[in-house]
Amino acid sequence: MPKKPLILLVEDDPNLGPSMAKVLESENYRVILEATGDKGLERVAREGDQIDLVITDLRLPGCSGLDVVERTHAAHPHLPVILVTAFGTAETAIEATRRGAFDYIIKPFDIPEILDLASRAVQQSTLARREVRLDAPEAADSGDAMVGTSRSMQHLYKEIGRVAPTAVNVLIRGETGTGKELVARAIHQFSPRKKKPFIAVNCAALPESLLESELFGHERGAFTGAEHRRIGRFEQAEGGTLFLDEIGDVPLPLQVKLLRVLQERAIRRLGGKEMIPVDVRLVFATHQPLEELIASKHFREDLYYRINTVELLVPPLRERREDIPKLVEYFMRRHAPESGVAPTELSPTAMQPLVDAEWPGNVRQLENVVRKILIQSRGFATTAEEVKNLLGGKTPPTTEQSAGLTERVKALLDEAEQGKRQNILSELVTEAEQALLRAAHTRARGNIAQMARWLGVARLTLREKLKQHGLYDRDGADG
Ligand SMILES: Nc1ncnc2c1ncn2[C@@H]1O[C@H](COP(=O)(O)OP(=O)(O)OP(=O)(O)O)[C@@H](O)[C@H]1O
Ligand SMILES: [Mg+2]
Repeated sequence: MPKKPLILLVEDDPNLGPSMAKVLESENYRVILEATGDKGLERVAREGDQIDLVITDLRLPGCSGLDVVERTHAAHPHLPVILVTAFGTAETAIEATRRGAFDYIIKPFDIPEILDLASRAVQQSTLARREVRLDAPEAADSGDAMVGTSRSMQHLYKEIGRVAPTAVNVLIRGETGTGKELVARAIHQFSPRKKKPFIAVNCAALPESLLESELFGHERGAFTGAEHRRIGRFEQAEGGTLFLDEIGDVPLPLQVKLLRVLQERAIRRLGGKEMIPVDVRLVFATHQPLEELIASKHFREDLYYRINTVELLVPPLRERREDIPKLVEYFMRRHAPESGVAPTELSPTAMQPLVDAEWPGNVRQLENVVRKILIQSRGFATTAEEVKNLLGGKTPPTTEQSAGLTERVKALLDEAEQGKRQNILSELVTEAEQALLRAAHTRARGNIAQMARWLGVARLTLREKLKQHGLYDRDGADG
């Protein structure tokens, strides 16, 4: 996980190639530069499993960027390819996204644009390629494991095994942080579609207008600013699985369209006329009480019945406390390398507060606490007291913290008055900034472009700020 993502850059321009490589390297990627399509494809053939992203120019000596897209996609459907193209050849690039390119970018592009695209592509590929094993924590190095031997988890594994081979729509439900996304990936990986794309869209992260074209694509001129055709995620997921996360957050008008797609198994791009058949397996997830949303007319009942052909419930952590020690051990092993310490073993007394905690943020919260333990321990044994402090302290930075703004202002003023502090303005601004960044980061699932729009700051500035607050992680892990 702490390993830098590897990008294969295929670019024949003797200036552009090296300078792009330099930029990418400065952003913590490793880069292999090849100057021809054939050389690029040789790399893919030899090292495809190690490569996280391919960026290729369209016009190349030898075989073209389009060939690179097609052959890479055929051999490694989960390895994303971004096609770089000149303005005049945009149509070809669009055709390429239909045939499997993750996206395209038009020259001249600016650096933040390509970095943003690259980081999203790497996230998508990390997600799609990390194998999920069911209850095999010893496989921690080679991918994600779903840890837990409690009865409710055993039941869940069985359900996954039962639905994975079928094509039915699955709705995954469970509180935040319970592992819904892991379940979605497992369903794909245990399905006959596993060699085809797994594409995840977080429906809560995009405003309605963008979400629609993200899902269905659009034709050129469909709306102001639609300079080029765009291929939507439905088409990109052809033959594979489309994971619509946070389905409860889809706005009503779009729910109508989604319903139609589910009925007709075909999509229409925005501003397009023809219906395009799609063969996509759909998996949905939500932490929202859909029945309540239906009652309050925020969710369509007919859509509800379409999406929950099969419903899987991921149990909250507090209902399977017996899994906690194993999870702790697993996360220790997993996160020790990035914290630069040896995984520490917790004594039974130090483990107890973790087993007893309420865990409103479920497994994700536990994972964050384990990371903190690792950092704090610096390789030494951690006491029950220290664990309790971590649990009682500012661990998960959620609403409690922001709800206490007025309180915090009072407390800081008190301390200033008593002469204990001198720079409470910057103190408070930092805290507020951090709270906002964290919340936005979680909600946008690390999508920098999205956050930048919400917060109204430039992406580069935002990236700097995220780094300052230790939130800049391009592998999609929650910070
Ligand atoms: N059973 C498990 N074993 C190991 N790791 C797990 C398990 N369940 C969840 N995790 C880890 O916890 C974190 C949160 O899981 P995930 O993102 O799948 O939750 P989620 O239900 O989708 O949350 P949200 O509702 O907030 O989107 C991830 O890092 C995931 O790898
Ligand atoms: Mg999720």
